Amino acid sequence: MENLFDLTGKVAIVTGTSRGLGRYFAGALAKAGADLVITSRNLSSLTDFKREIESLGRKALPVQLDVLSQSDIENMVRLTIEEYGKVDILVNNAGLNIRKPTSEVSWQDWDTVLNTNLRGSFFCAQAVAGEMVKRNYGRIINVGSCTCVFGMEGIAAYTASRSGVLGMTRSLAAEWGRYGITVNVLAPGWFKTAQNAVLYENTEWVNYITHRIPLNRPGQPHDLDGTVVFLASDASEYITGQIILVDGGFTTGATKAII
Ligand SMILES: NC(=O)c1ccc[n+]([C@@H]2O[C@H](COP(=O)([O-])OP(=O)(O)OC[C@H]3O[C@@H](n4cnc5c(N)ncnc54)[C@H](OP(=O)(O)O)[C@@H]3O)[C@@H](O)[C@H]2O)c1
Repeated sequence: MENLFDLTGKVAIVTGTSRGLGRYFAGALAKAGADLVITSRNLSSLTDFKREIESLGRKALPVQLDVLSQSDIENMVRLTIEEYGKVDILVNNAGLNIRKPTSEVSWQDWDTVLNTNLRGSFFCAQAVAGEMVKRNYGRIINVGSCTCVFGMEGIAAYTASRSGVLGMTRSLAAEWGRYGITVNVLAPGWFKTAQNAVLYENTEWVNYITHRIPLNRPGQPHDLDGTVVFLASDASEYITGQIILVDGGFTTGATKAII
């Protein structure tokens, strides 16, 4: 059974690994045996993480990537092939949210969120698929969020981007299954990172959100390990076009009774 989850000899690109969830995903894949391509818009932010991956006995290739740049995306895949000769796994993690009242959202804000989270994920997937098709093998994991399936006020652009990621995933899964490529969404619930640190400073909010989570706590880094390795490995070979919510039950809609 354990071989089903073994990633030894696999090459994984994880976008947005300068901090936050991208580091958790990359770390979990490395622990399962994969060699890594790690990315940031600022290469120097990857120095310590490269060492961390290498201390696990895996290789790590740092690459500068802005997902808003077509040439950066093409360059990332070219460097990956030059270094490793193939790419087996892509985790489309790079993303952002712009939090402001809906009435103040500008056209620029909308474009930044949609182009980073949705367009960026599409073109990274397109770029690696060209290589995966040649080997009839691939695992593409698009990072989503609760907003793939759930509405929350004040983040319409982010919600649109994440709902778009789910729709895009289903379409790519339908198209690329014949080439042995699976495409799925891993949707984290609430994890404290730079992207949402401001929310966690508000005790009232933390209490509210905890009350909405059946498993009674926000996510911890290790909560994502099993799902990312599962979707990257042979264990999920016959699963494509799906979403797995790692949210402690938040999107079940169930709230605990106040007694
Ligand atoms: N934290 C949560 O609870 C949560 C929940 C659901 C979904 N998510 C999603 O999970 C992903 C990671 O979130 P996080 O919380 O870890 O956020 P974070 O700490 O802000 O990290 C975001 C990462 O994305 C990268 N990034 C942002 N814009 C980019 C661009 N234009 N090109 C390339 N990379 C870019 C950043 O890289 P550089 O700045 O170094 O370039 C950084 O490494 C995001 O897609 C987010 O929407 C997070």
